[in-house]
Amino acid sequence: MKKVISLLLVVLMVCVSISAFAEGKVGISMPTKDLQRWIQDGENMQAKFTEAGYEVDLQYAANDVQQQLNQVTNMINNGCNVLVISAIEGSSLGSALDLAKEKGIPVIAYDRLLMDSDAVSYYATFDNYKVGVVQGTYVINALDLDNAEGPFYFEITGGDPGDNNALFFYNGAMDLLKPYIESGKVIVKSAQVEFADVATPTWKTEVAQDRASSILASYYADGSKIDAWVCSNDSTALGVENALEDAYEADWPIITGQDCDIANTINMIAGKQSMSVFKDTRTLAAQVVKMVGQILNNEEVDVNDTTTYNNNVITVPSFLCEPVFADATNYETILIESGYYTADQLQ
Ligand code: BGC
Repeated sequence: MKKVISLLLVVLMVCVSISAFAEGKVGISMPTKDLQRWIQDGENMQAKFTEAGYEVDLQYAANDVQQQLNQVTNMINNGCNVLVISAIEGSSLGSALDLAKEKGIPVIAYDRLLMDSDAVSYYATFDNYKVGVVQGTYVINALDLDNAEGPFYFEITGGDPGDNNALFFYNGAMDLLKPYIESGKVIVKSAQVEFADVATPTWKTEVAQDRASSILASYYADGSKIDAWVCSNDSTALGVENALEDAYEADWPIITGQDCDIANTINMIAGKQSMSVFKDTRTLAAQVVKMVGQILNNEEVDVNDTTTYNNNVITVPSFLCEPVFADATNYETILIESGYYTADQLQ
């Protein structure tokens, strides 16, 4: 009898543990391994999905649009039940998205919105406009723009025009800063202010560095100062910091960023970058795992914004996570104590 009971118990435990595992194959398409954040995004999601019992197909596309298109198409043909995609170029995956729709495969746009398609089921990201607001507010407070006399000298470096996020970041910061430019309190010597003029195709450090070097050579070679260089993210801020190291003599400007990449956090600690916006990829990954579970179980999917993100065809139901301000005074708490980095990584 004892034996039968223990056998029944074992069977029961096996059943419980099997039912605790979710079923399904998730295709995760990330843009590139060049930038630390995407490696972390991919690895965090892979770990969480695997832990929850899903099969995972994680691919990186080396910033090559055609490669990403092929990878996503293969994921569909290899039986993925749901796709999580962070696009290199928001509007370039049309044919793969059409195929996903035809096969009834839900698509979550991850961090970057997928544009010009009605095949996008959900969007999970950080509040992109707010990222820019945090940057703009920081600069206004750091220079006390409302009270100090000025004029102040600014330059601006934006993101990739192929990434829908880039304009949100720019607008978040520039909606706050443009009034000071219009009133003359802030002067942009290069006169490059509009998004098209300040954009950094591909978000690459080298591209931002080249543009910054030529601005420095044309407008600041006389030793005149720059008070703030508003950069949309860390990869571009790093380019600006490199250019300044090479050819700038006056007091170091305030520099903004986003992502808390390791190189930039090290620069923040060394006083070469003033702040960054921390977007904890663990939070976003956990949210996406939750949304995938809800989709596959036909449950209501957790969203908190149904009006902001129109992709030129539909307004995509979105979940926006909160970005967090980071600088040299709080990085230990939010980056090290939270386990995001070890102290050694920031040496
Ligand atoms: C992301 C940023 C990142 C940038 C460059 C944007 O879409 O939201 O966090 O810095 O791409 O990869």
